[in-house]
Amino acid sequence: MKLILLLSVGLGLTWTLQDDILDASVLQGFDPKQVTGSWYTLKLASTDRSVIEEGGAYLCFMTGIALQDNGNLNVTYFHREDGKCVKKFYIAEETGIPGRYTFEYQGTNYLTFVDVTEDFIIMDLENQSKGGTVIMSELHGRSLSTDEIEWQLYYIHTRRRNIVPENIVDLSLTRRCDTP
Ligand SMILES: *[C@@H]1O[C@H](CO)[C@@H](O)[C@H](O)[C@H]1NC(C)=O
Ligand SMILES: *[C@@H]1O[C@H](CO)[C@@H](O)[C@H](O)[C@H]1NC(C)=O
Repeated sequence: MKLILLLSVGLGLTWTLQDDILDASVLQGFDPKQVTGSWYTLKLASTDRSVIEEGGAYLCFMTGIALQDNGNLNVTYFHREDGKCVKKFYIAEETGIPGRYTFEYQGTNYLTFVDVTEDFIIMDLENQSKGGTVIMSELHGRSLSTDEIEWQLYYIHTRRRNIVPENIVDLSLTRRCDTP
């Protein structure tokens, strides 16, 4: 009994460590062209709920991704500032690992494309600082409609990243901010 318990604890640990270093396991055969174009942010989740709540630094409505000649991505989004929806962009730079990028926003962030279909993408963001790591998981769609399978995949990903279900925000229930 003890052995089984120990073994499962050990396995759990390996899984977590692997998850944190390699993680958000990069998608095989990632092609940046699949993620370009316009998007709607459907769900946001974070290990720290306050960052995706009203006024939070990561409460963002992504509206588009453009591929630059050098391989970097220009990610545009809207963010509410003093009650107004303001258009912004960040440049996600290639890391050498297909599907993983890095960008500066309140420190260094790692962006990983975890799942990509014709209609949906799941993006994993990790902000690392001395105070600790904050993880964000985002579900974006080509339209505002959702899909049960994609939602399940998204949910599984949030669990793997130790995000509790209470920290998933459904933006279809929120005042949107996709236009100025
Ligand atoms: C990124 O895209 C936005 C919106 O299309 C544009 O205004 C901005 O100039 C672009 N930034 C760069 C560095 O290409
Ligand atoms: C992200 O990391 C930076 C330092 O790299 C830190 O200043 C900032 O507060 C972090 N953001 C969040 C939301 O934790």
